[in-house]
Amino acid sequence: MDPKDVREAARTVLEGNRVIGDNFFYTCPSTGTYQHQWLWDSCFHAIIWTYFDSENAKRELISMVANQHENGMLPHMNYWKSSSGLIPRLGDWLFGRLWPEKNRSYITQAPVIGQAVEAVFKATHDRNFLAQMLKPLQRYFDWLHLERNEKISSDGLVSILHPWETGMDLLPIWDHIHGIKRLFTLRSGLWLSKIIKQYNKVDWDIEKIKELDLFLVKDVSFNVIYILNLLSLANLCDLLDQKEKGRTYRSRANIAKIALEEKCWDDETKFFYSIHSLKDTFLPEITVSGLFPTCLDINQKKLDALVKDHLLNEDEFWLPYPIPSVAKSSLHFKAEGSSMVLWRGPTWFNTNWYIVKGLQKHGFNESASEIIQKMREMVEISGFREQYNPFTAKGHGAKNFSFSTLLVDLL
Ligand code: GLC
Repeated sequence: MDPKDVREAARTVLEGNRVIGDNFFYTCPSTGTYQHQWLWDSCFHAIIWTYFDSENAKRELISMVANQHENGMLPHMNYWKSSSGLIPRLGDWLFGRLWPEKNRSYITQAPVIGQAVEAVFKATHDRNFLAQMLKPLQRYFDWLHLERNEKISSDGLVSILHPWETGMDLLPIWDHIHGIKRLFTLRSGLWLSKIIKQYNKVDWDIEKIKELDLFLVKDVSFNVIYILNLLSLANLCDLLDQKEKGRTYRSRANIAKIALEEKCWDDETKFFYSIHSLKDTFLPEITVSGLFPTCLDINQKKLDALVKDHLLNEDEFWLPYPIPSVAKSSLHFKAEGSSMVLWRGPTWFNTNWYIVKGLQKHGFNESASEIIQKMREMVEISGFREQYNPFTAKGHGAKNFSFSTLLVDLL
């Protein structure tokens, strides 16, 4: 698809998914399936809005931080209004009722917000907007550092308490924790609601959640995104002459990167794995999460192995329409997705966006261009869908899906 046509189609999707109220503005992921505001989605939307309407980009992020928790956490969802239609309401019935408050959730999501604010600032040079966003951002990243690093194992890496915090809800990595094989979607949904009930019982007190040890994961993708966004936040602090703060965030990023390379790398299979529980046990599953360190300045041998042995391997990730969320070689790999089955094999554009940028940063330009070309074909064949079959480019899950328009930022 021609870049100009991609842009026009993307604008139509974003404009069609706007949700505007008296005190909020956001772009929902998809009007039929996901009507609320999600954290990483909104950050991606803001990045894409900079190409069409920077005011919308700012409004999206301002609404995202409006319901920040008192301790600094940004919720993974803001419920500005109730949803309509059966599928979105099902989600609310199952999970919405479990949150102690009605307008926001009690878990967070991958912290893309540093990169989003940086992108919006680069496009607008609006120092008022930057000043308005800096405080909520600092509170959020300080909360991540304190609650998800220091109070858990203090090795520099941040832990997640629930799979949805990665944004990769049903990735087979989690199967190694819950061990569910039959009636997968139903039973994993019940398992998740059980976790939340237990957290509610202890009033989301992190020390008690740590004792429960139901789901404590240092996920590779979440930590890489954390590191990249600490670096963006450090740049934003420098811009407003908060050099000391900038140094603190840079140092946290560096400590986390060293810990990631030490703890999550497996020298035998030459891959990065998420680790779990207080024992830091490997979760041995080859998924797109383990490719995320291509975005960082890691050891060259590790980088080469990630790209050449895994990403470009036709038995794992180098399929006709890359990059599948799960390696083809995994027992859990399924090329088809659906509204209920997410992150078990199909290709997603936000993970592609990260990996493509990582490849470009490290000079793997040909592979990056090939992925971008394939993304254009996927959109040509199926439009902006939530997920794509990595063999056929057939679209699965939500239609007119907002963050798939990230392709615009890669053209
Ligand atoms: C699904 C995705 C998640 C996304 C949400 C809204 O739950 O797994 O990444 O944030 O939908 O689009």
